[in-house]
Amino acid sequence: MRVVRTLAELAAALERPRNERRMIGLVPTMGAFHDGHLSLIRLARARCEAVVVSLFVNPSQFEEHADLERYPRDERRDIELAAATGADVLFTPSVAEMYPPEFATAVEVIGLTDRLEGAARGAAHFRGVATVVTKLLCMTAPQVAFFGQKDAQQLAVIRRLVADLNLPVAIECAPTVREPDGLAASSRNVLLSSEERSRALALPAGLRAANELARRGARSAEELLKSAREEMLERGVEPEYLELVDPDSFEPRERLARSALLVVAARVGAVRLIDNIELQPAAVAAPSQTPREVLA
Ligand code: PAJ
Repeated sequence: MRVVRTLAELAAALERPRNERRMIGLVPTMGAFHDGHLSLIRLARARCEAVVVSLFVNPSQFEEHADLERYPRDERRDIELAAATGADVLFTPSVAEMYPPEFATAVEVIGLTDRLEGAARGAAHFRGVATVVTKLLCMTAPQVAFFGQKDAQQLAVIRRLVADLNLPVAIECAPTVREPDGLAASSRNVLLSSEERSRALALPAGLRAANELARRGARSAEELLKSAREEMLERGVEPEYLELVDPDSFEPRERLARSALLVVAARVGAVRLIDNIELQPAAVAAPSQTPREVLA
């Protein structure tokens, strides 16, 4: 695996695969790798002939300076893990390489970014994500880019910008990787104390409670949200938001008529966690008697 830090080095590393018309896959990350990141690299390895992983802690998407400061970083470990998982190139640019002093452009997805994570983290968050992802896609020009379902609203924002700007790239999504007890893998999990780590299980437990209810036929958002909220409160976590939304627009849904996302954010101690689950409406139960039997 080659570690490259400048645009010129990235272009040089991609010259051969591009000339040979090999399929290039990009996995954008902010490092501090966990199994979620590694599953994306593995998926890219399985689908593409040249795998580029970017590692850049993007300052413009952090609303609080303190959050950026304490974001976990371990470049040596990340390089080893990316190489062992099958990446061909690790692109880890400096802030100056990505944002030279004269930098003055932003990519903004309108509407979709106003709610939930956009509202909680401020308009700058998704603007920062959309801008850096657009830059990474332009720099690497991959045929496919890989993102995790864990950050469902981010995925919807990226799908929207790729469609709206006609970027010639396919977006592939990988399912949320969870730790054995159900907590969604996240770079922020290492910041939890052991008491907070067990309390954080309230998030997947709340999502599971609603999923169970949906499987038993519940369709009203109010009922589904109530069961998730109660489960979380019982476990000592108050959701910052908890909503049933459309997976593309992120507009709220009142009923589970087709598949929808149940999305949640909560602070556990000083750490803000997000999670989501796709809920499917249960098939309408088959009548226990056929009309002929009823008539007989
Ligand atoms: P980061 O948080 O490092 O995540 C990189 C990718 O890993 C994202 O696509 C994210 O959805 C995915 N991911 C995180 N946790 C996951 C899990 N438990 N299971 C599956 N996938 C998971 O998201 C970002 O970085 C940045 O916003 C970025 C897109 C790189 C732009 O700066």
